[in-house]
Amino acid sequence: MSEAPAKKRIAILISGRGSNMLALAAGVRQGEIPNAEIAIVISDQAAADGLLKATELGIETLVIERGGRNRKEHDRQIVSELRIRQIDLVCLAGYLRVLSPDFIEAYRGRILNIHPSLLPSFPGLNAQKQALEHGAKTSGCTVHYVDETLDGGPIVARREVPVYADDNVETLSARILIEEHKLYPEAVTSVLATVGVS
Ligand code: GRF
Repeated sequence: MSEAPAKKRIAILISGRGSNMLALAAGVRQGEIPNAEIAIVISDQAAADGLLKATELGIETLVIERGGRNRKEHDRQIVSELRIRQIDLVCLAGYLRVLSPDFIEAYRGRILNIHPSLLPSFPGLNAQKQALEHGAKTSGCTVHYVDETLDGGPIVARREVPVYADDNVETLSARILIEEHKLYPEAVTSVLATVGVS
């Protein structure tokens, strides 16, 4: 009998709420992201709400706080934990720290991020506020590979939403978030099809 193919091992990095992490976990659980598992959820914030939610789903969690270290040293510990677990794909999901060049090099082409705008428009913080201030008529979300640029790596997939005249940051963010939760599992599925197991 031939062996079942090894499951692709996903790590999710969070700093807060973790709703995109939950969307990815649901995608795996429901088979939308086939032949994969969420091997670990790592947070740089001990108080991240997403940690408890991941634990409730039976997913291993780790808190790796910066603790006064520089970016390189902090990331070195994260990469070491990823290697121990033979991670195939790293998904940033509301992870608020910029990755060090060493981290990016260690997992080049295997790190994704989700951003709440139609990149290349409105990279960086407060993307929804930027879109409103710019008077954009549409916005949305983007899943992209992470490279050394700020939200500038190759785009995997985008999804558009309308911006209404009476929108504020909360209403626009909520409309975009609904699409984020659909887009991220789809994008991960398409990327995993191209990623070999570690
Ligand atoms: C999302 O809007 C995501 O696009 C951005 O940070 C937010 C994280 O939300 N990078 P959550 O923690 O996944 O709920």
